[in-house]
Amino acid sequence: MAMDFQEVANKIIAKERAVAERNRGRIPYTTKEPHVFDDHSGRDQICWWTNGFWGGILWQLYAATQEESFREGALEVEKQLDAAFMDYNGMDHDAGFRWLPTAVAHYRMDPEAAASRNRGLLAANSLAGRFNLNGSFIRAWNDWGDGRDTRGWAIIDCLMNLPLLYWASEELDDPRFKAIAAAHADTAARVFVRPDGSIRHIVAFDPTSGRYVRDYGGQGFGEGSSWTRGQTWALYGFTLSYLHTSDERYLDTARRVADRFIARIPTDGTIPVDFDQPAEPVYRDDTAAAIAACGLLTLAEQEGKSPYGDAETSARYRDAAIRLLEMLDRDSCDYDPAHDELLTRCSASYHDQKHEFPIIYGDYYYIEAIWKLTGKELFIW
Ligand code: GLY
Repeated sequence: MAMDFQEVANKIIAKERAVAERNRGRIPYTTKEPHVFDDHSGRDQICWWTNGFWGGILWQLYAATQEESFREGALEVEKQLDAAFMDYNGMDHDAGFRWLPTAVAHYRMDPEAAASRNRGLLAANSLAGRFNLNGSFIRAWNDWGDGRDTRGWAIIDCLMNLPLLYWASEELDDPRFKAIAAAHADTAARVFVRPDGSIRHIVAFDPTSGRYVRDYGGQGFGEGSSWTRGQTWALYGFTLSYLHTSDERYLDTARRVADRFIARIPTDGTIPVDFDQPAEPVYRDDTAAAIAACGLLTLAEQEGKSPYGDAETSARYRDAAIRLLEMLDRDSCDYDPAHDELLTRCSASYHDQKHEFPIIYGDYYYIEAIWKLTGKELFIW
């Protein structure tokens, strides 16, 4: 039977009412014991890259229901995140993941929210400051103090942070931010996308000459492999660069990545951690399925609007997204209001000890995808 998206949205709203009530004042990443969220709002974890997603869930719930308790919860997260601005080393390239779903979402909902606009602009300036003219890329992380030199490291995930720069350019009517975003996206299209449409995770450049040095498998199986979440950051990220710039080259790149991703989905419809992982053990990553669904739905929409797009391709992307959501609904989603998590089989990294557990951005992107299909979405990116 076809999935009833409105019915699923109603189940999510009923569940998240209870989850949000239980988790006021916390910023969850995963569960610390079965069905109970942990909390990353403390000083030592406030810079964790996923800390914007719980706020994003609350804003999406508020946009759909206008229920004040969701808005109050989102405002708490936004204020808690201010501590991250005071930790230079923790301020990495993930400024978009932290502040687009929180401060900028707040400002989109309320144009009078001057402090939220200010937070978004501070975050955008921090992100723009990571751009290296030598090599034309945004530096991913600051050094970790473990001897690794990360000055020249860029990662595919950063494409999802670029919308913070597109937003800042619009907001300030200042082309600098957009120019930096486009320069990074051009480098990513040239260096991270392989000829077959698959994606490298980490690329190291020489930070002085800008020369390509090597790439790393990162969170995937290994060098040369296809870490699925990285493929989805690229799919959605290039689509968003097209949405914000109307540059057809980004749409072409998004299509290539999407076509390769769809071609590699296993016959059972689930998404592994890496398309090139060994046949056993089978580790899956539901976050990649949820992010891909959002990316494919957005790509389908942009394809439909582009003067060079075609309706058949648009329908193919939308159908692929719906198949992923049906798979998640069928054998991953936990709609029980007594349980904090929504998606249950997410994986952060192939070589971690732990696989197939709840991760907050899996829940966020699943909700965003269902909201896209039911007309409830607050545009975040
Ligand atoms: N951005 C880090 C990850 O996708 O795990």
